[in-house]
Amino acid sequence: MPYAAITGWGFAVPDRVVTNADLERMVETSDEWIVSRTGIKERRIVSQDDSTTSLAALAAIRAVEQAGLQPTDIELIVVATCTADDFLVSQAALVQAAIGSKAAAFDVGSACAGFVTALDVATQFIRSGSYKRVLVVGADTLSRYIDFTDRSTCVLFGDGAGAIVLEATNEERGLLASVMGADGSGSEHLFVPGAARFAPESADLFPDARPHVQMNGQAVYKFAVNVMNEASIEAIEKAEMKLDDIDMLIPHQANIRIIEAAAKRLNLPMDRVWVNLDRYGNTTAATIPIAISEAAAAGKLNEGDNVVVVAFGAGLAWAAGVLRWGVAGTRNAAQ
Ligand code: UT7
Repeated sequence: MPYAAITGWGFAVPDRVVTNADLERMVETSDEWIVSRTGIKERRIVSQDDSTTSLAALAAIRAVEQAGLQPTDIELIVVATCTADDFLVSQAALVQAAIGSKAAAFDVGSACAGFVTALDVATQFIRSGSYKRVLVVGADTLSRYIDFTDRSTCVLFGDGAGAIVLEATNEERGLLASVMGADGSGSEHLFVPGAARFAPESADLFPDARPHVQMNGQAVYKFAVNVMNEASIEAIEKAEMKLDDIDMLIPHQANIRIIEAAAKRLNLPMDRVWVNLDRYGNTTAATIPIAISEAAAAGKLNEGDNVVVVAFGAGLAWAAGVLRWGVAGTRNAAQ
């Protein structure tokens, strides 16, 4: 049974930087509060010219180039998003057209847990022998659904996209074990009320009625700390590894305190945890592929390293995995 190695990676974020000082001018908050409670210093927010498609396509092109492939080499595109640009058309189909690919394409919807879930789904397609080259994208522009008068949510989120290319290999690389879960009874802790019933044309008449994210921060926080720990440990056990075998943690970037708790549980010093939420905030499904891309570009991921990826979010839902970094032998199996 082939494995699914990560052979390419890339990310894209909007140019517009919104700092904590900018938010201080919009809501009653402070840089001190935001940094001490979350670790976030600034985030990127889309302008009129950006979209989920534009960010996802740029990240995808970069990942395909990094893999040394052409968009036409990709057989399947899976996009994790909760902010697709179209209600009917999958975000993956929009990315496919934007990058000039002919691949099969569909979306995975699991909010912040979406990318790890999509990585798992894509890996299964390669392991079953159905496809040999799959593009997995995590992309979101949640700022379009944020109420920028609500200080409890507007300081947390940013926009962005990250992508990876998976290729079939006979070597033990890529996602080796995974864990997924959901608890829909907690859905009211993080959701967008009224979104399904919203008529866009009413936005001009009733701007305040525009659907926006509502969150019970403390409930999500408690859930996150528990589930990050439990799902990571379960994935490590499923991979038949011990804590000592783990070289790096790439967690969902929502709150530095949640990340530090997960690192502590895994016995990892913070220099073996990739953190970028200070610069991007919580980019929903994009946090982990952006972090993978940055860590790889910084030379922090070495051939054979065992990496835990773990995410949680609206659903409530979670997903974790242990992946082995590197491309050894990949091209032989993928030909
Ligand atoms: O991908 C999943 C996305 N969601 C999450 O990961 C959220 C998880 N939860 C969290 O990260 C934290 O709960 C928050 C960062 C959202 C909030 O931190 P907290 O330490 O749980 O604060 P809190 O909600 O208990 O609020 C403490 C105080 C409150 O004031 P009072 O009632 O004590 O007077 C809030 O009104 O902080 C106030 N507050 C703020 N103050 C300044 C809430 N937001 C802000 C703000 N600036 N932006």
